[in-house]
Amino acid sequence: MSPSPAAAAMSSPPRHIRDVLARVFAPYPLEVVSAEGVWLHGSRGERVLDLYGGHAVAALGYAHPAWTQALAEQARTCQFQTNAVAMAVRERAAERLVRFAGLGLETVFLVNSGAEANENALKMAFRVTGRAHVAAVEHSFHGRTAAAGAVTWGAAQKWYGFPRAPFDVSFVPRRDVAAIAQHVTTRTAAVIVEPIQGLGGAFDLGATFLQALRRRCDETGALLIFDEVQCGMGRTGHPFAANLYGVIPDMITTAKALGNGFPCAALLMGPAVAAGLKLDVLGTTFGGGPLACAAIAAVIEAIESEHLLERVQRVSAYLRERCLVGPVTGHQGAGFLTGLKTTRPAKDIQAELLARGILTGTSSDPQVLRILAPYILEEPHVDLLRDALEELPA
Ligand SMILES: Cc1ncc(COP(=O)(O)O)c(C=O)c1O
Repeated sequence: MSPSPAAAAMSSPPRHIRDVLARVFAPYPLEVVSAEGVWLHGSRGERVLDLYGGHAVAALGYAHPAWTQALAEQARTCQFQTNAVAMAVRERAAERLVRFAGLGLETVFLVNSGAEANENALKMAFRVTGRAHVAAVEHSFHGRTAAAGAVTWGAAQKWYGFPRAPFDVSFVPRRDVAAIAQHVTTRTAAVIVEPIQGLGGAFDLGATFLQALRRRCDETGALLIFDEVQCGMGRTGHPFAANLYGVIPDMITTAKALGNGFPCAALLMGPAVAAGLKLDVLGTTFGGGPLACAAIAAVIEAIESEHLLERVQRVSAYLRERCLVGPVTGHQGAGFLTGLKTTRPAKDIQAELLARGILTGTSSDPQVLRILAPYILEEPHVDLLRDALEELPA
C-alpha cells in the first residue's frame, strides 16, 4: 500500500487551537472534523480508517442513520426527565438490554460512565454481603473514581489521587486458578474482573479462570462482578463475554459501545443483588436520561437487525488470520477487542500506521497493538490494515 494522502498531512502537527484544555492524554497528530462509517475526516483533508473507535465506543461507526435519527427524534420529543418521572423510552431501553444479555440479570440501574457503574456495583456488593474486602485481578482497569481506581492494578503507584483506598483490595494474578482461594475468602464482598482485559492488552482470562472465580464466589458467598465496560455490548461477537465464556456473574457493568458515543452506562443485577435494593440506596441525575436511553435502544436494534454479532465474529476471525504479517507475530483477546502482539513497541507501530491513514490503539502491554474497530468493519478494511502492516519493518 503506497502512503495515503494522510501521510503528508500527518507529518505536520494539526493547526493550533487555543490551549485551554487540561492535558490528560498525549494527543495523536490528528484533528477530526467529521466522520462517516469507519472513516474519520481530518482537518488537513486526510481520511483515516478508524480501528480504535474512540476507546471502544463507536460500535456502529459514525453517522449511523438509525442511531442519529433516534437521538434527533428523542431530542425533539423530550430531552430530559429525572428517574423520578416515568418515561417509556427508559423502560424500553432497560428491557431491551436485559433481553439482549439473556443472562437472567434482570434489574438495571442506568448511569453515566463505566467508573460510575463499577462504583455502584461495589456499593451493592458491600451492602448485600456486609463485608469490606474486594479481590480484583492483576493488570485490570476499572476507572478513575475512588472505588473503581482502588481496584485498578497499579493505580496506587501511578495515579490514584485519593489519600487512602476506601476498602481492602487484593489482586489475583491473571489466569492463576491456584491463587484464587488465598485472595477470595469469607471476608470478600466481591470479585471484580474484566473477562477480557482491555487496557491490559486485550488479554482474555479464559473460561477456566472465570469458572474458578465463579466457583470460589459460590463457596465463600462473595459476589462476582464482570466489568464489561469495554468487552461487553457485542464487542466479542457475543452480547457479553459472560455469554462467550458461559459464566454468569451476579452483576455486569457496561458502557462504551452501549451508547455508541452518547455517554451512558449500566449496572445489570441478578436477583440476589436486586433484593438488596431499597429506595434511595442508589441515585443519579443524568443516568437513564431519555437521550441516553434512545441511544441504547438504537444500538441494540442495530446490532440485532444488522446481524452485527455475526459480522464481528466473521471479520475479526479474518483479521486474526490475515494480519500475522510485518511486525505482528500473534494475537489475543476476542472479536473486536483483539490485541496484536508485536515484535517492537506497539506505540511505534501505531504511529507508523497512523502515518498511513489507519488509527489503532496501544495498551498497558508495550508490545500489544489494540484493535477496537466499529462492528460494521468489513474484510476489505482488514486488507488495508494487512497491506500497511506488510510495509512495516518486522
Ligand atoms: C474495563 C473498563 N472499566 C471501566 C472503565 C472506565 O470507564 P469510564 O471511562 O467510562 O469511566 C474503562 C475505561 O476505559 C474500562 O476499559
